[in-house]
Amino acid sequence: MKVIIGNDHTGVEMKNAIVKYLTDQKHQVINLGTNSDAAVDYPDLGQEVGEKVMQEKDSLGIVICGTGIGISIAANKVKGVRAALCNETNLAKLAREHNNANVLALGARVIAIQNAIWIVETFLNTSFDAGRHALRIDKLNKL
Ligand code: RB5
Repeated sequence: MKVIIGNDHTGVEMKNAIVKYLTDQKHQVINLGTNSDAAVDYPDLGQEVGEKVMQEKDSLGIVICGTGIGISIAANKVKGVRAALCNETNLAKLAREHNNANVLALGARVIAIQNAIWIVETFLNTSFDAGRHALRIDKLNKL
């Protein structure tokens, strides 16, 4: 799986742990996030990851800011992005199964890094259920 990841300055440590996990699992990772503690603006990172996910066929995105809220709002402004802020594995599972989420948002100041890795693992290993959900995704795409 090709995974596009981006983070602001609050998410560097969590991003690094997730990149290590993904690399160990043989995923291809494109890191668009900052690697420094110097403040950057989450709207820029959310937009960059969202646009890259739209460009790279069959990719998924991960975005990280302090709460996960701002960067998920930003990513969701990109046409075709369905970013889901998940702070537990069940949300990640349902976001893929029901919403066909293509970007996972995480809050570095909200959840522990190990929890974030379990959430990432669930997100990447769960497929869209289609069926009754497909019509709703079509409606989302038309908004
Ligand atoms: C940065 O201080 C913080 O506002 C940002 O990481 C995020 O939490 C916004 O939603």
